[in-house]
Amino acid sequence: GAPVTADISRLEPGQQMTVEWRGKPVWVVRRTPEILANLKKVEGDLRDPASAESVQPENVDKHHRGIKPEILVLVGICTHLGCSPLYRPEVAPADLGAKFLGGFFCPCHGSIYDMAGRVFQGVPAPLNLEVPPYRFDSDSVITIG
Ligand code: FES
Repeated sequence: GAPVTADISRLEPGQQMTVEWRGKPVWVVRRTPEILANLKKVEGDLRDPASAESVQPENVDKHHRGIKPEILVLVGICTHLGCSPLYRPEVAPADLGAKFLGGFFCPCHGSIYDMAGRVFQGVPAPLNLEVPPYRFDSDSVITIG
């Protein structure tokens, strides 16, 4: 499939948008300083906090998993059996528990991921969500693929 360009200029802090790339949903989230701070707080509860086993390009950080910390780009497909997880930005929602400080919830079998797409321990999904190859064409435009 061809690369896809996305205008992220209207993406507000804390918001998620979805772009289709190669028939897959790709999410873009504009992360706030609070979201970035929460990534460190959940690391003890993650299966692979430094993304040693996950699929991601070389030029993304292994912890926050972005090229720029404030912009997160992920393939929105659960690494368990391929459902598309839901964006759940709330901190410690009643249904997901106090350890969950915002991220993604897969309704199929309950896997949860943090705001860097890193999977929590004790859920069926084996790996962090995939980060696709992408680049910044400008501050407000990215190309995926
Ligand atoms: Fe997501 Fe099974 S497909 S938890």
